Amino acid sequence: MIVPARKLFAHAYGKYAIGAYNINNLEQIMGLFQGNIQSQAPFIIQLSKGARSYTDKRMLEAMIRAAEEIFPEAIFAVHLDHGDEKTCYECIASGFYSSVMIDASHEDFDENVAITKRVVDAAHAKGISVEAELGMLGGVEEDIQVDEAHACLTDPVQAKEFVTRTGCDSLACAIGTSHGAYKFSGGQGIHFDRVSAIQELLPNFPLVMHGSSSVPADEVARINAAGGKMKEGAKGVDPAQYLPAARLGVCKVNIDTDGRLVWTRVHREYFRDKAAEFDLRGPGKEFMAAYATFIASRNELLGSAGHLASVRAAVEGD
Ligand code: G3H
Ligand code: 13P
Ligand code: ZN
Repeated sequence: MIVPARKLFAHAYGKYAIGAYNINNLEQIMGLFQGNIQSQAPFIIQLSKGARSYTDKRMLEAMIRAAEEIFPEAIFAVHLDHGDEKTCYECIASGFYSSVMIDASHEDFDENVAITKRVVDAAHAKGISVEAELGMLGGVEEDIQVDEAHACLTDPVQAKEFVTRTGCDSLACAIGTSHGAYKFSGGQGIHFDRVSAIQELLPNFPLVMHGSSSVPADEVARINAAGGKMKEGAKGVDPAQYLPAARLGVCKVNIDTDGRLVWTRVHREYFRDKAAEFDLRGPGKEFMAAYATFIASRNELLGSAGHLASVRAAVEGD
């Protein structure tokens, strides 16, 4: 069942976070649904602009619709990740997405507000949720001065004004994380003081944490042992911090890179160990099973595991 993201957030707020997983292909979709059913978790399936154009957006949509039929128990939102205004309107018109992200965080504050407000008006007219972004993700690096690094984080006072003026349903905040496999070069982590300050001014309002992959060291070691060349310093978010963040209002935790690492490890090890093989289904099956296991393990850490039945009761009662 596809539901608006805000219904998932209403159930999760302050207790646990919903895993938002990026997908690009059939094997990821199968593993994702299997892992969420195994762990009995609601989830968000998210499609970036790059994913939509990897083959054809209609292919992804058809595969997700098929997965909905194959796994009728699943409860999830279909979300556009890092959309621009034009792509948001396309997804809103499609009748398929239940949530869009308008990412105008690179614009100045007033322009970000204006763009986001236009998208919110169009989305809400169709019951679709909107995630917006304020602050500069990924700018917090070791070589940036403390003051400068601090300036990249989302300002709580601005966040309150932004939410009031735009009417968005959730807000992606810069709280110290960044996209990709090389986060926290200086050993920093999530800026919990900042999350807490934002929650104080925006109580009960769902926050979103991008760049939340944990980049497991053993995964990186296995990739490199199987011929990979990932650089030293690959480091992610400590997954033990997901739940403390959730208690401060972080309702959506975005994970893409970790799934890519599972894919890379499975395929590198498969062809290293079975060098004579050329049937794509062998590594495909191994990947689906490994990805499902990974998803179930993340849902345990996010606290979303085991909530499927109560979410069903809540959304069906609405
Ligand atoms: O935040 C970006 C996501 O990891 C999606 O990445 O644009 O390469 O699909 P992508
Ligand atoms: P990671 O690169 O940490 O997986 O973050 C993904 C993300 O934020 C997608 O929007
Ligand atoms: Zn992101």
